[in-house]
Formats: sequence, C-alpha cells, structure tokens
Amino acid sequence: METITTYINDNKDRFLSELFDLIRIPSVSAKEENKPDMIRAAEFLKDSLLKAGADKAEIYSTDGHPVLYGEKVVSADAPTILVYGHYDVQPAEPLELWNSPPFEPVIRDGKIWARGADDDKGQLFMHVKAFEYMCKTGNQFCNVKFMIEGEEEVGSVNLEKFCTEHKTMLAADVILISDTTMISLETPSVTSGLRGLSYVQVEVTGPNRDLHSGLYGGAVVNPCNVLCDMIASLKDSNGRVTIPGFYDDVKECSAEERTEMAKRPFNRDKFMQSIGVTQLKGEDGYSDTERIGIRPTLDINGIWGGYIGEGAKTILPSKAFAKISMRLVPYQNAEKIAALFIKHFTSIAPEGITVKAEYLHGGEAYVSPLDTPEYMAASMSVEGSLSKKPIPVRSGGSIPIVSTFEKVLGIKSILLGFGLESDAIHSPNENYPVVNFLKGIETIINYHQQYRFQKK
Ligand code: BES
Ligand code: MN
Ligand code: MN
Repeated sequence: METITTYINDNKDRFLSELFDLIRIPSVSAKEENKPDMIRAAEFLKDSLLKAGADKAEIYSTDGHPVLYGEKVVSADAPTILVYGHYDVQPAEPLELWNSPPFEPVIRDGKIWARGADDDKGQLFMHVKAFEYMCKTGNQFCNVKFMIEGEEEVGSVNLEKFCTEHKTMLAADVILISDTTMISLETPSVTSGLRGLSYVQVEVTGPNRDLHSGLYGGAVVNPCNVLCDMIASLKDSNGRVTIPGFYDDVKECSAEERTEMAKRPFNRDKFMQSIGVTQLKGEDGYSDTERIGIRPTLDINGIWGGYIGEGAKTILPSKAFAKISMRLVPYQNAEKIAALFIKHFTSIAPEGITVKAEYLHGGEAYVSPLDTPEYMAASMSVEGSLSKKPIPVRSGGSIPIVSTFEKVLGIKSILLGFGLESDAIHSPNENYPVVNFLKGIETIINYHQQYRFQKK
C-alpha cells in the first residue's frame, strides 16, 4: 500500500502547480471588479473536488459571492467531517511593496509568495489534496463534506443564511478548519480559541465645507482634531477601553487557566523584532499573549479626513472618518458592543459636531474544548506528522462565522491551522512555507483516520 508520505511526495509538484492556478485567480472579495474571479475561483475548486473524487460538488449563489458545497459520503455509520475554508482573499495593495506580483505565485527560499498563499487558498487546498489521497487510495474513513465560501474577508455576511437554509445538507459531527496559525513545525500548536470582532465606521462633521485654516482656525471646532480627541479618550492610561459596559459580559479566565496558558513559548524580543518595534504596550495586569489571546481591545484600522494629497493645503476640514475594530472575547456580543460604542461615541461629541456611526460587521469569539474526541484527534494527528504533541493556543484573530456555525448548525469547530506568524497574511509579501503545505496535508489525512478511531 502506498503510504501517505509517498503519495504526497510523488504528487507534490502537481499539488503545487494546481494551487498556483488557484492563486492566479485574483478573488478579492472586497472589490466589485473581481466579481467574475470569485465565480472562477469557486468553479476551479468545484472541479478540484470532483477530480479528487467527490460524489457531488455544487455552487450555490448567494446575495454576495457564491458558496461551494461538495461531499463524499462513504458510510452512514462513519462520522462526518465538514471542512470549511474560504477562497476569497484580501486586496493586495499596496502593490509596490511586493517583491513579486501578488497573483503570480513563485517559490523562493522554500516558501510560496503570493496573496492567498496561506490565507486561505494554501491552507484550504491542503484539505482538497488530503481528500484526493483518501479517495484515490481507498483510505476514506469518515464522510467528508466541504463548505467553501467567498466572503470571509468581508465578514461572511451571507453564510449564516446559507447555513440556516441547508442545515440537513451540512449536518456533521465536527467542522475542520485550516485558517489559523501554529507556533512552528518544531513547536506545533492547535488554535483553541478565536476572538470575536465588532467593526464600526465613524464620521464626524463640523463646518459645512472645508475652510481656510488661517481665516477660521483657532475659532472653529476642527472635526479632525475632535476625532483624535474622541478616539484617544476610548482608552484610559491603564490601557482599558472606557466605553461604559464594554467589559460587562467578559468572562475572566481563572488563575489555573492563565497559568496553563502562560506555559506556551513566547519570545518577546523576537516578536518585537519581527514587527520592527521596540516596546509593547497594552492593558495593565496582563501578559503580551493574554492581551492578544484572552482580552478584548479596540483599535483604529484606518483614519482619514481633510487634505491628504501631495504637499501642503491649508484647510480646516469639514469631516473626519475612522474605521475601528474591537476584538472581543467569550460572552461579548458583537452587535451589543457596537451599540455600546455608538451610544458612547455619540455622547462624547462636543457641541456643534455631528456624529454618524455604523456597525459594518462582526461576530462572537469561539473557544474550543480540549477534552473531546474532536480535539483528541487533532492532537494525535499533529503528533503523528510532527512528532510532538501540540500545545493549545488562544489566537487573537477572528473567524466570526465559527461561532455562528455553533449557533446555527450546533457543530463545534477544530482549528487545525498551519500558517506561521511570519506568513504576513493581509500584508504585502504574503507567503506560506512549502513544508507547512505538505505537512498540513499529511496531518489532515491523519485527522480523518484518528477521528474515526476517537469517535468510536
Ligand atoms: N484566517 C484569518 C483569521 C486568522 C488568522 C485567525 C490567523 C487566527 C490566526 C481570517 O481570514 C481573517 O483574516 N479574519 C479577519 C476577520 C474577518 C471578519 C475580516 C480578522 O481576523 O481580521
Ligand atoms: Mn482566513
Ligand atoms: Mn484573512
């Protein structure tokens, strides 16, 4: 019998060339101009699933970008694994910062360089190839379903409805997702939680037009200055968010949990060096990894207003804008937090300044229990391919739809990610090590075998 590693080794060049074809489709969900590419990407993956051995694969249109569903059911007695992933990617801009074009994947220094190399085309494609192995070699032990969406990077706005409408089709014992990171192949980890997200955009308006900053400045309230003051007041000197009620629903982790979590390796100097900063700062009383993993926070994602063109223009702007994300932890509700934000933000506006604030999207945090057959299978499968038991790590990132899956479908997810911190997802020069891609395929195949075994 052909072993898993032989199959992967014998086929790796083809796996990579197929992945490259997928990456070449610029499926940027945020851009209208890429709409046809969204359909092409979904169709590409549909063909991939059918060629791999799926019994069926179908594209469902939504009010946004299409969802791909595929399956191969082997036995009514076998557990069912639903694989989730997303074929959409973030915009590649700023293009001039890329060392090679974002949609022309290349391998350099053992890594694939391209938008989507990791997030999530590279990671999703590992599942397609693991599935191919299982089908082609007659080693499929669980029923396999695929749900692949094209709107993750823009908030998965149409996927809840899709889940509600296709509950029976999507019925499964576990959802398996590779869309997160691990510490490294040498120190493997499994993501045991994700933060939630509440994303808002604000607009503050002062005078009815941009004014001469000499003729009016000093006497007229400046919306850009006001916006800075207002946002600055959203955190106090202890790094805590000042919005009334913001922490009300936060469930504090126990001392035991915190001690357990603190065992994960984290090199502060290396972390700072990797992002080019010389200090880290956050909420008092919490470590760096706690600030990222288990505490909620608030950050400006973009801020603009007034004159931002070349050279100097002396104006006092009429309007200022900001996009603000709040990362949430278990029991905080995204819409409730947005409502608290909007109420507070409106209330702190000075006289004569009008505020518009809008909730764009969000979702709740997710925590994965560690004492289940689902997690056990993850732990064993990683140990099988990487020869080390993985450590559970609470990630600061978000995949808001994961909590929706639990709510709507009643299914828990396992976050078996193979990305690295250094993969620069969402940034210029996104990359994904080829060995992570190949080890990921192997681990996923292990998972399907282990899960059948653990679930018995
Ligand atoms: N795959 C990421 C999330 C992620 C990456 C979680 C690494 C943990 C580790 C996902 O595609 C993503 O970018 N999510 C967004 C939220 C989304 C609603 C735009 C995020 O976390 O900002
Ligand atoms: Mn992703
Ligand atoms: Mn992403």
